[in-house]
Amino acid sequence: MTRLNSSKEKKRAIEICDGAFREPVTKWADFEMRLQKWDKAADFILAYGDETLGYAIVYANDFTSKTAFITMIAVRPEYQGRNIGKDLLLAVQKLAGERGMRELELEVRTDNQKAIGFYEKNGFCRKEKRGKESMYMVKKLLP
Ligand SMILES: CC(C)(COP(=O)(O)OP(=O)(O)OC[C@H]1O[C@@H](n2cnc3c(N)ncnc32)[C@H](O)[C@@H]1OP(=O)(O)O)[C@@H](O)C(=O)NCCC(=O)NCCS
Repeated sequence: MTRLNSSKEKKRAIEICDGAFREPVTKWADFEMRLQKWDKAADFILAYGDETLGYAIVYANDFTSKTAFITMIAVRPEYQGRNIGKDLLLAVQKLAGERGMRELELEVRTDNQKAIGFYEKNGFCRKEKRGKESMYMVKKLLP
């Protein structure tokens, strides 16, 4: 695991992992805007071996709510099911803990049953629905 700082490297990693998504992230109409936002305020964690395996993007900077927010997590399809997602979550938790965060939150589409199963297996609880298409999930972090 490593933290990426360069916007170019982040974009490249997202491109490499884009097969994980039905709708590739780099094709989103607001992708460049999002990338700029992530670059400014979020941390980018890269999972790698000989090559890029996956990534997680997390905001861990709300020191009032002490809630960190995972905005993206993806593992390349050919590497899924090998605990890389779990290791990314552990790296996110470590970073959030170091920043004094007390919980981790994320939003997931309700039709993404695979991701929901993964989050539940890894200690997240369903929190509340957000409209028809997505919901929040949350995990308390140990002090
Ligand atoms: C969700 C995702 C990140 C999971 O990554 P992964 O590397 O395949 O998952 P892991 O191999 O690390 O799984 C970790 C654990 O969760 C379990 N798990 C994984 N998917 C699961 C599922 N659908 N249901 C139940 N458990 C699941 C694994 O069995 C493993 O359990 P173990 O610790 O007992 O071995 C990956 O599937 C992905 O990139 N999906 C596409 C992108 C996406 O939807 N991102 C989330 C958007 S909100």
